[in-house]
Amino acid sequence: MNYAMISRHAVFVLVLGASGLAGPHPSDPSPQAQPATTLKLPLKDGSIRFAVIGDTGRGNSGQIAIGAQMAAVHREFPFNLVIMLGDNIYGADSPADMDRKFASPYKALLDKGVEFRAAIGNHDNPNQRFYKPFNMGGERYYTFHPPKNADGKAEVAVRFFALDTTYLEKIQIDWFEKELASSVSPWKIAFFHHPLYSSGRTHGSALETRAILEPLFLKYGVSASFSGHDHFYERIRPQKGGIGYWVSGAGGSLRKNDIRVGSALTAKGFDDDYHFMIIEIAGDDMYYQAISRRGATIDSGVFHRPGAIVAAVVPTPSPAAVILVPVPVPAAVPAVSPPAPKASPSPSASPAPR
Ligand SMILES: [Fe+2]
Repeated sequence: MNYAMISRHAVFVLVLGASGLAGPHPSDPSPQAQPATTLKLPLKDGSIRFAVIGDTGRGNSGQIAIGAQMAAVHREFPFNLVIMLGDNIYGADSPADMDRKFASPYKALLDKGVEFRAAIGNHDNPNQRFYKPFNMGGERYYTFHPPKNADGKAEVAVRFFALDTTYLEKIQIDWFEKELASSVSPWKIAFFHHPLYSSGRTHGSALETRAILEPLFLKYGVSASFSGHDHFYERIRPQKGGIGYWVSGAGGSLRKNDIRVGSALTAKGFDDDYHFMIIEIAGDDMYYQAISRRGATIDSGVFHRPGAIVAAVVPTPSPAAVILVPVPVPAAVPAVSPPAPKASPSPSASPAPR
């Protein structure tokens, strides 16, 4: 392992450990071998499939149980990619910690060749970008297509953009805009740690980050966005441009009853247990399913790509004709979240990679 630990970070780690943020929490229930949930996704030929986890890296029983559920789901729903939404390694990050907080909980998936791709969170050492199993290519922000499926042809329809929202500096924003402008993939999916929309009492919407990123999303047609930081599941009601936003920050961290009751942002919320997500993209449809630690389906449905053209049958005398019509963009739901606290500084600044 060529992962280098920074001594300054280690000091930061000790503070976190003392505050109870690192390591197993005494109230964590024991991992339980539950059967996988009922699969709600269609498993279409040639579809693009991936899983989503956020705020995982504690090595606690919740993370371990989620890893076991993911492996069980993988047997029914083979996916070859997992995106990680940040706070991937809380606290100490020695090789033994990397094993306990990452490699061990997901060993079954790693052994099957599943590729993990990480975004940096505020609790992460930016040097995680050099940790090979995170597949970041040594960069704090990067873009990629999902790995090839068996048919080797569908992957270019989707392009991911992993951002570092703890240090969202100009050079990164310029890079993001340039990459968006040059992308011809119909599905543009951004993932990063701080949610642009969230009903979390603890953090909530990252308004300053939203002010920077949302105009780019709208200008260049970003389809969907996944973030963590708040330790629950939330599917956000359609916002400007019909862009889909998800908060998925309870892969190894949990903050019960943290979703503001009655929030106008919430389409579906779940803050009772750990969870992860599985996603399937087929054509202009993105099927999603959120699954709890115990294997229950928290949420499922289909999200249609904003701006896509759909076939609609219109009545005509004879025969029925199929025409193409633009998908109406849902009206934006006003954001009512309180201002989010600024992201805490990362333990070690790193030079911009580009
Ligand atoms: Fe965080």
